[in-house]
Amino acid sequence: MPLLFVGDLPIFNGGPCVATCAIKRSSKGLKMRMRTLLGLALLLMALPAVAQQKGSDTKGKFYFKKNCKSCHVDGGSAKPLTPLSKTQAQWKKLFEGGKHKGEPFTPKLGTPVQLLDIKTFLVNHASDSPQPETCGG
Ligand code: HEC
Repeated sequence: MPLLFVGDLPIFNGGPCVATCAIKRSSKGLKMRMRTLLGLALLLMALPAVAQQKGSDTKGKFYFKKNCKSCHVDGGSAKPLTPLSKTQAQWKKLFEGGKHKGEPFTPKLGTPVQLLDIKTFLVNHASDSPQPETCGG
């Protein structure tokens, strides 16, 4: 029940300055203000969670083999690719551009979630990453 602490918030949040200014306002205004502050605080707490919406490295490896290596292997219809084929920036650019051979990445090459996993795997193990990986060559 966070609203129970509404009266205490100025002391925690803004220190004496905010408290003094706030006290001059009507109690209704104060309540609204605190509600906004509380909302903002909750929003800020939630933001990192959204930004951290990352794909799965292990699943990405699986889907890279399944969805991409079908063509991108020695003797395949496209040139062999491993995470080492590109730098982190190059992989990010490829996926963020959302294009493969000038066509949109989805849906033939994987669902958006699968593509996010593949991107995560490729970026995590790119040639200039801390853990480069060839994915079986
Ligand atoms: C149906 C076959 C096929 C599949 C599946 C496929 N590709 Fe490709 N890809 C190609 C072809 C053909 C080219 C263009 C010729 C080449 O680069 O070998 C290409 C080009 C590329 C390039 C550009 C190569 C370069 O060096 O710039 C990248 C990167 C790439 N694909 C990544 C992927 C990824 C990641 C996946 C899986 C999500 C994937 N491809 C799935 C056929 C495929």
